[in-house]
Amino acid sequence: MLYLEILGNLPEMARDEVKAMLELAGGEIAGQDYLFLKLDADETAFPYLDRLGLSHEYGELILEADSIEELLRKAEEVDWPIKGTFKVDTETMANCRFNVLDLPRKLGAVIHAQGFRVNLSKPDTLVRVYCGERVYAGIRLRFFDPKDFEGRKAHHRPFFRPISLHPRVSRALVNLTKATREILDPMMGAGGILMEAGLLGLKVYGVDIKPEMVEGAEMNLRHYGIRDYELKLGDATRLEELFDKRFEAVATDPPYGTSATLAGRERDELYRKVLESIWGVLEEGGRLAIAFPTSFDGEAEAEKVGFKLVGKYYQRVHKSLERYFYVFEK
Ligand SMILES: C[S@@+](CC[C@H](N)C(=O)[O-])C[C@H]1O[C@@H](n2cnc3c(N)ncnc32)[C@H](O)[C@@H]1O
Repeated sequence: MLYLEILGNLPEMARDEVKAMLELAGGEIAGQDYLFLKLDADETAFPYLDRLGLSHEYGELILEADSIEELLRKAEEVDWPIKGTFKVDTETMANCRFNVLDLPRKLGAVIHAQGFRVNLSKPDTLVRVYCGERVYAGIRLRFFDPKDFEGRKAHHRPFFRPISLHPRVSRALVNLTKATREILDPMMGAGGILMEAGLLGLKVYGVDIKPEMVEGAEMNLRHYGIRDYELKLGDATRLEELFDKRFEAVATDPPYGTSATLAGRERDELYRKVLESIWGVLEEGGRLAIAFPTSFDGEAEAEKVGFKLVGKYYQRVHKSLERYFYVFEK
């Protein structure tokens, strides 16, 4: 059994991102306690879990209990799979029901009694305790360093446009499509979504109506070492004219229409046409992840085209931009 901690800002999207990766890996979410997930999966899932964008860490779940006393009792019976030195670290979630202040010391003593040495500054093994409705202890295997994602935020890229999604969110959109081979972003802008997909080893296809975006997206992809791409200048409402192939997956973040040219009706018309156009180039059973402002009924409009809703996640960006991220299946 594995454990995984998702991030708290888009928790439902984060959970479904994990679910999508486990569907590829052949595992499932076995339980949830706030941001803590129990995963029925083994090491064959690691390459898929390593793709995640909206997660904090994962590891091996060693034990769980309904009280601190029970946790400590069970801990004595476990053969702790510790390599080198260790440290116990506690995560007190917002729904924590127990007093865990003294727990690192007490659990540390139990593990120490099995012959392992504590090192508080540079442990080889991190024992993680999560406190929620229940208490859990596990061994951290992978931490998703925020610095990896921060380094790809818009202002760090050679071609800068402030319109980009956070790299963690772009990554999650890619994963929610369950793409394993390729992905198309028909309104790629500076290429933020394509960067995250390319770093996963997917072949990336991009379209934008503005020549400077096609050039800029290429600059960004190359800067992050991505070489397997095909970018085109063109119109997202006419994709079948641009490609004579169908795509395994599509992910995109259309313009929100704050600019005068895209205000109101014209913008909604663009969204409708883009949905139809994407339908035309998506493989049967393929997934589309797409963002729309809340003022546009993305669910109803996509269903008219034939899409089936798989997920819908709300995000308030600022007071004049609230949006939903949608996942649809053809
Ligand atoms: C919000 S931006 C995409 C940002 C991108 N997801 C990123 O993270 O960098 C939307 C892009 O759609 C492009 N666009 C607008 N209308 C389009 C159309 N009809 N066909 C293709 N691209 C279009 C704009 O030029 C803009 O670059």
